Order: sequence, then structure tokens, then C-alpha cells
Amino acid sequence: MIQDLAYWLFQTPLSDWLARTPSIVPLVQSIHILAIAVVMASMLFINLRMLGWAGPRGGINADLRRFVPAIWGALVVLLATGLIMVAAEPVRELMNLLFRIKIVLVTIAAISYYIVQHKSKLDSGYWESHRKIAVLFAIGSFILWIVIATLGRWIAFAGSLV
Ligand code: HEM
Repeated sequence: MIQDLAYWLFQTPLSDWLARTPSIVPLVQSIHILAIAVVMASMLFINLRMLGWAGPRGGINADLRRFVPAIWGALVVLLATGLIMVAAEPVRELMNLLFRIKIVLVTIAAISYYIVQHKSKLDSGYWESHRKIAVLFAIGSFILWIVIATLGRWIAFAGSLV
């Protein structure tokens, strides 16, 4: 099914135009990388606060209100630029195992921030009173984003599934 989608996309005029316009993909890739910097910086601010290694004790909620929207904004940019890159080379991207794993992990990361935000909306002191979960989230999300970024770079060097 994904293979059919990839070959269909490959035959669209949009894919053809993107593939024939040399400056589009490098430009879009640059924006993708800038948005990664926003995600990584915001993730670090949140994680250091959750670990209790930065800022005054307490106030995790204030940091979540500042930085989680930045992560959502950056994810929208990553999705838009990522989709343009997929449209430019649909078969190479969609038929790449690392690309698929990366998309699953990005979805897991997005769901985790939705849950984090939701918990702090229901109870503003949730993350202060659940220190162990906060530390687990900080460590888990740090590893997750590093793996996602590594997979993103590795896609270019992995073989195709077809
Ligand atoms: C939201 C959905 C996303 C989509 C659809 C997407 C899609 C893509 C695509 C198609 C590429 C080009 C791969 C290649 O051919 O070499 C790419 C590159 C990359 N992506 Fe994403 N991506 C997304 C989110 C992310 C996120 C959240 C991160 C990390 C925080 C990330 C990190 C990277 C990195 C490091 C590269 C390599 C850039 C380069 O070396 O030029 N991506 N992405």
C-alpha cells in the first residue's frame, strides 16, 4: 500500500517539478534543520527543568507553557518541510525503513507532549508532585529526540526496501 502511494506520488506533476527544481530541496532541508534546532532547544529547557537541574525549584508548568507551543510550532514546520522532501523523492523516502521508524517515533514524541501538556492543564502542580515520572519523561524524551534526529540523517545512507 505504501509502495503504491510512493509510485503514485512519483508520477504527480508536483513531484516532477520538485525533482527538476534544484534549489527547492536544499532550501526546504535548511528550514527542516532550523526547526530541529527549535525542537532540541525547547526539549532541553523542559527536560533540565523536569530533572530539577535548571531554574528555581517548582515552576515546571510555566516552562511547559513557554516551550511546548514552540515544539508544536516546530513540528508543524518539520511536517510541512518533511512532506515536501517526500514529494520530491517519494520512492526513496517512503520505501526506506529508517524513514518509517522515524515517523513512528515522531508520532510517539508528539503524543507524549500532548499527554504532558494535558496533565499540567488538569493539575498545575502535577509535574512537581510526580518527580519520578518527570525524570523518566526527561530521560526518555531526550533519548527519543536524539534517535529521531540520528535516523533523519541516516535515511540518506540506508538502502531501499524495494
Ligand atoms: C514531522 C514529520 C517529519 C517528516 C515527514 C520528516 C521527513 C524528513 C525527510 C523526508 C528527510 C530527508 C531524508 C533524506 O532523504 O536524507 C528528513 C531529514 C531529516 N530529518 Fe526529518 N522529518 C520529520 C520530522 C523530523 C524531526 C522531528 C526531526 C528531529 C528532531 C527530524 C530530523 C531530521 C534530520 C536530522 C534530517 C537530515 C537532514 C539533512 O541531513 O539534510 N525530522 N526528514
